[in-house]
Amino acid sequence: MQQLKNLQEQVELAPYTTMKVGGPADYLVVVRTAAEVKAACDWAAAQNVPVFVLGEGSNIVVSGEGVHKLVMKVELAGFEAITEDDTAVTLRVGAGEHWDGVVERTVEQGWAGIEAMSMIPGTAGAAPVQNAGAYGQEIANTLVELEAYDMNEHRFVTLKRADCGFAYRHSRFKGDWAGRFVITRVTLRLSKQPPAEPTYASLRRWLDENAIAKPTVAQIREGVMAIRARILPDPSVVPNSGSFFKNPIVDGARLAELKKRFPDIPSYEYEDKFKLSAGWILDQCGFKGQEHFGFKFWTGHALVITNPGGSAGYDDLLKLVDLIVRTAQDKFGITLEPEPLFVG
Ligand code: EPU
Repeated sequence: MQQLKNLQEQVELAPYTTMKVGGPADYLVVVRTAAEVKAACDWAAAQNVPVFVLGEGSNIVVSGEGVHKLVMKVELAGFEAITEDDTAVTLRVGAGEHWDGVVERTVEQGWAGIEAMSMIPGTAGAAPVQNAGAYGQEIANTLVELEAYDMNEHRFVTLKRADCGFAYRHSRFKGDWAGRFVITRVTLRLSKQPPAEPTYASLRRWLDENAIAKPTVAQIREGVMAIRARILPDPSVVPNSGSFFKNPIVDGARLAELKKRFPDIPSYEYEDKFKLSAGWILDQCGFKGQEHFGFKFWTGHALVITNPGGSAGYDDLLKLVDLIVRTAQDKFGITLEPEPLFVG
């Protein structure tokens, strides 16, 4: 068998995820350079072993059966302004950089574009996969292009934003490109102009309460951090994977029907449709604060399923997902879809 430097076998994956469930990876390797990415991909191709790309494990649920793949933990570093003028800066960031560290550094420079995405757990390279977003911003708004190793073509490629098929919590990396690319660098275009005024309701409220009329990027970051600290558990303290379901999107006719039965249902215009609030739906189902199968719904936000003590398992989580989906279906006729990626 061809050798791969630092290859580990039968590695428990739960500690590599923030939800802390699931079985072992057949193989795991940590990569810190583009050459190591290529070597790992070549090894996997030669062994006929699929590759799963791991960042900080904050948006994945690992199967109890484990993962019969080479798990490639991406730790490529880098933070470099590649072009800059009076109004904007183009920034190239290594895929393994901790996302919030990137946000913090850009905010320190006064650059605008990702400040509302403060404190999102995970890596910079993972952000495009699910088009990470929060408080009115998503990475699709600032991403110019990204570099990736193409495991079909066996070479590094540059992919432009327009090619990535970004949508709400979605991209082609989760769709027809799943399993094909290892993202190694992302290029963002940030503005040196004052930031756009936030429109997201809870952030607006925080700014009003703090009498901030024209917020700076630093003030927006401060507001987002304050809101997140109030409603979301810190995954390094209480295991969880953030919002566990996507916000459902319905058309106007469906919303009108729902409004007849549930006049208080929150809805937000989204393109030519309406986004509902999965958190509100779970709250109305009575789940907030409840415990089932060893998991607990966070008291600050019903959409966050926590694994207190990290002791509940994958099968228990599947039972809970089934209970939630059935309950929401019975009460609202809405099929909730999990937001984290299930890996097996
Ligand atoms: N709500 C309730 N009860 C709850 C929680 C929420 O009634 O227990 C209702 C309230 O009406 C509230 C509304 O839901 O105003 C929206 O809640 P929130 O502002 O927290 O936003 P969200 O739609 O639940 C989404 C993202 C979050 C992101 C926030 C802010 C999804 C699935 N989640 O949450 O992302 O931080 O907006 O932009 O789109 C994540 O993806 O892991 C995540 C945390």
